[in-house]
Amino acid sequence: MGKKVLICILVGACFCLAGIAMADNGPAEMVLQAEKDKAKKPKPAVFPHAKHQEFAKCADCHHSAEGGKQVAYAEGQEIQKCEDCHFKGSEMPKKLDSFKGAAHVNCKDCHKKAAEEKPELAEKFKKCMPCHPKS
Ligand code: HEC
Ligand code: HEC
Ligand code: HEC
Ligand code: HEC
Repeated sequence: MGKKVLICILVGACFCLAGIAMADNGPAEMVLQAEKDKAKKPKPAVFPHAKHQEFAKCADCHHSAEGGKQVAYAEGQEIQKCEDCHFKGSEMPKKLDSFKGAAHVNCKDCHKKAAEEKPELAEKFKKCMPCHPKS
């Protein structure tokens, strides 16, 4: 009887640890592309998500919203697609009412800052690179 209880506790502990280890960090590599506001000439963006998680915080990119106002990222929150909120007709400020707009503000602002701090990145971050590589 005591043995069974012990096994149950051990199995429970394993599931618990697995749950912690499997916290959903999302895909490691992504190709981002608007789905709602489809462009005539799509311009997919490459995004190494896991690499960014090594130096940036989830809250640098993810947030939620309530009553049309941004709510700061909270550990373990459900993560929605940017386009769930940032799309044409969403009543967002114009600069933010598309995936392109929200992404350009978020991604490009940080790359700009990073290149100012680390001049060696400036070459890598020229023009539309490294997000929209040619083919
Ligand atoms: C540099 C920006 C950035 C950082 C840092 C970041 N993410 Fe993301 N993450 C994104 C973008 C962009 C997407 C794609 C969203 C979309 O498809 O609209 C995404 C997608 C996801 C998804 C998939 C959502 C879905 O339904 O497709 C999960 C889960 C996720 N991120 C979790 C995390 C967690 C947890 C962290 C912190 C450990 C984190 N992310 C850090 C930018 C980031
Ligand atoms: C649940 C809805 C929701 C989701 C999902 C969402 N946002 Fe937002 N976001 C908002 C709201 C609301 C604001 C505030 C808009 C305003 O200023 O009126 C905002 C503001 C912003 C801003 C401007 C303020 C700032 O923090 O710099 C950026 C950039 C942005 N979002 C990018 C993103 C990106 C990138 C994603 C996906 C990784 C995303 N958002 C996902 C609702 C959302
Ligand atoms: C919080 C700051 C920050 C945000 C937000 C951010 N990046 Fe970056 N990104 C960086 C830095 C710093 C590097 C350089 C990493 C290195 O090479 O050391 C980088 C590198 C990259 C690279 C090149 C990776 C490689 O292996 O050479 C791509 C592609 C990229 N980012 C795309 C994006 C896209 C797309 C977004 C928005 C969805 C984004 N980034 C948002 C800081 C950021
Ligand atoms: C730091 C990363 C980054 C840089 C630099 C960047 N973009 Fe983007 N861009 C994105 C992301 C992420 C999206 C949203 C996903 C998508 O729709 O392709 C996007 C979307 C777009 C779209 C909309 C495509 C569509 O299918 O709706 C266009 C057009 C675009 N970018 C043009 C440009 C041009 C032109 C430049 C250079 C002058 C540039 N971008 C620089 C990340 C970047």
